[in-house]
Amino acid sequence: MLEWSLLNIKPDAVARNIIGQIIHRVENAGYRIIAIDKVQLEREEAEAFYDVHRDKPFFTKLCDYISSGPCVPMVVEGEEVIQGLRDLIGATDPAEAAPGTIRKDFALNGTQNSVHASDSSERAAVEINFFFSRHKLYLLTRNEYRG
Ligand code: CMP
Repeated sequence: MLEWSLLNIKPDAVARNIIGQIIHRVENAGYRIIAIDKVQLEREEAEAFYDVHRDKPFFTKLCDYISSGPCVPMVVEGEEVIQGLRDLIGATDPAEAAPGTIRKDFALNGTQNSVHASDSSERAAVEINFFFSRHKLYLLTRNEYRG
């Protein structure tokens, strides 16, 4: 099934100038970038994005980190892309991530782990809507040169 997922390149990866290396892996896997942006989240926006983790012990650290610098969110399209991106990025903690995954190769630790990808179709819809307007996505996908 053709799906959209939200991939976010996190501040540790943006700071180390490896946006292109990560995007290269996504495109090499056969996926297409539908929309892309570079933003810095306010602390309150970070809390809203990670609201599902509000009760976790790492919530404060996670929100501090994600709002500490620019990140690069993007909408990625492909067949079964939601599970496909989860496989491509690997386990949350790079020490546990499989060889060849983005987190194994680039992540610094379980918090500064370079990328986030939606873990379900429900979360993909919420997360895409968080970063991108429906109108922007409409304009980017309405013709045969959608790229
Ligand atoms: P992400 O895929 O963005 O989803 C939730 C994030 O919480 C996760 O990546 C990590 O950055 C962070 N996270 C998850 N588990 C832990 C943990 N045990 N300690 C610190 N951060 C964590």
